[in-house]
Amino acid sequence: MHHITFLQQRYSTAAKQLGEPAPNKAELEQILAAAVAAPDHGGLQPWRFLIIEKEARQKLGDLMASCYQKRHPQATTELVERQRIKPLRSPLIITVVARIQNNPSVNKMEQILSAGAACQQILLASQALGYGAIWLSGESIFDWNINEGLELDFDDQIVGFLYLGTESEKITAPQRPTVTDFIQHWNPSSKS
Ligand SMILES: Cc1cc2nc3c(=O)[nH]c(=O)nc-3n(C[C@H](O)[C@H](O)[C@H](O)COP(=O)(O)O)c2cc1C
Repeated sequence: MHHITFLQQRYSTAAKQLGEPAPNKAELEQILAAAVAAPDHGGLQPWRFLIIEKEARQKLGDLMASCYQKRHPQATTELVERQRIKPLRSPLIITVVARIQNNPSVNKMEQILSAGAACQQILLASQALGYGAIWLSGESIFDWNINEGLELDFDDQIVGFLYLGTESEKITAPQRPTVTDFIQHWNPSSKS
């Protein structure tokens, strides 16, 4: 497949449709090598990748459930338990974090965007290696208790939980919007 066709046919796979096997150690290194090729203003390298697999997924589920309960003290047991099993849907989760630095030339948003670009690189690299992936977030990414449980710094911003695995059934790339609906040419005539 031509590179441009590959990019146009990128798609996400629902986490529950991502089973074993996950990318192996060598493949994961390849995927993360793509992630650190993300555009990066000032070369700040404002990314961290937490690899969560095997029984650590259960611990992430416990953390998500307890933090959810703190955020929603009135939540039903069913809702809390739903949080606990979320990380078990796929064999591998990469939590992508923007490690934000105070820099006079590169503001916080640019560093978060760079971490977002790293997420996109992970999605593309996973698909290139034949794996499925999806970028998920939710309230957790703005919850300081999640940062603390993941041993992140206070200023770290989680930008996504990337779920990876092997597709349980072949997914066909979704129909995409008509690109021309989003394009405008900007070239104002100069006023004298
Ligand atoms: C920053 C970010 C966070 C997202 N968080 C969620 C999420 O929490 N839940 C969800 O169902 N989709 C989420 N999505 C959307 C999916 O990753 C995915 O793009 C969507 O299911 C559409 O599939 P597609 O990528 O094949 O178009 C998020 C996307 C981005 C960019």
